Amino acid sequence: MSDSPSPSLSRVLVTGGCGFIGSHTVVELLEAGYEVVCVDDLSNASPKVLDRIAQIVGDEAARRLRFFKVDISDEAALAEVFDETTPKAVIHFAGFKAVGESVAKPLAYYSNNLGGTLSLCRVMDAHDVRAIVFSSSSTVYGDPDEVPLTEASPKKPATNPYGWTKWMIEQILSDLWVADSRWDVVLLRYFNPIGAHPSGLIGEDPKGIPNNLVPYVAQTAVGRRDVVHVYGNDYPTPDGTGIRDYIHVVDLAKGHVAALAWMAGREGVEIFNLGTGKGSSVLEVISAFSEAAGKDIPFVVDPRRAGDIAQNWADASKAAEQLGWKAELDLADMCRDSWNFQSQNPNGYEA
Ligand code: UD1
Repeated sequence: MSDSPSPSLSRVLVTGGCGFIGSHTVVELLEAGYEVVCVDDLSNASPKVLDRIAQIVGDEAARRLRFFKVDISDEAALAEVFDETTPKAVIHFAGFKAVGESVAKPLAYYSNNLGGTLSLCRVMDAHDVRAIVFSSSSTVYGDPDEVPLTEASPKKPATNPYGWTKWMIEQILSDLWVADSRWDVVLLRYFNPIGAHPSGLIGEDPKGIPNNLVPYVAQTAVGRRDVVHVYGNDYPTPDGTGIRDYIHVVDLAKGHVAALAWMAGREGVEIFNLGTGKGSSVLEVISAFSEAAGKDIPFVVDPRRAGDIAQNWADASKAAEQLGWKAELDLADMCRDSWNFQSQNPNGYEA
């Protein structure tokens, strides 16, 4: 894997750079020598993340990071950022991401996620910046007919507005390239990102009650929740619980650096799965987390959650062959680092 910035794309603008995956990606970009323009409206992230990133990367690299508190839907403000910083490429994370909330507030999700992307693309085009890496999701594969999932596996209907926004943004970016072949689009389909930076300085800090398994398990381990609810043990899987391809967020972040290095100067639309290629069940995750935390984690079995699928995991060979990237950390590493962040920051970034 080439980690040195490709000269033509050495200054990259990251939308949603203070969020969970965004912040870890900013760290990896700075450590690989990139100049990073972080744009975040802080609607679902803490400004403390910026100090933590600086602590991790050190003074020299931190000088290559600039931050703008801007909502990407504010096209005039975003255009000013582009004028001032002249980025060569964009990694686009910014968006609402809570599945349940998206069902309750479809208009908010469609207008924020789609509207934000449209204004971002207009500003990019106006500034002659047409290289974009988009933060997509394995959710676009829906309930798969077979696993592992390759990039050629069919897209299936999403089960919620959040999933539809990922689905539609992939389509929008692909259509942009059809209209103007100068666009250089990479769609990264993430499987289930968990874990945290090994420093324990940045990690996942969901607001309210976590929707996702690992943050819920972590908060139970630290005593903020009483018991983990296992959503169904009657799936057609070896232990009856759902199977997912959990990937360490640092591996995932490195996948973005590999994609940027790979895409420099090319034109087209390319899709890569970012996963480990290995599935783990809910019970295996709880057990690995108990091991990492050195304590039992209580759980109860509840009915299945609406919209959940039995299993998915990636065939990650395309990213290995073309990007020279593969996940290196395993479930034990993910749980250790997630616990390290959670135990050092029991209330997340709040004091
Ligand atoms: C979910 C979203 C997906 C999104 C992804 C982002 C749904 C249906 N899907 O994926 O669209 O891209 O988050 O990270 O919400 N589980 C429990 N107890 C819990 C939480 C989860 O047993 O408290 C189980 C689930 O049934 C599933 C597994 O743990 O088998 C993983 O769930 P989760 O972390 O929410 O991720 P996904 O559902 O795979």
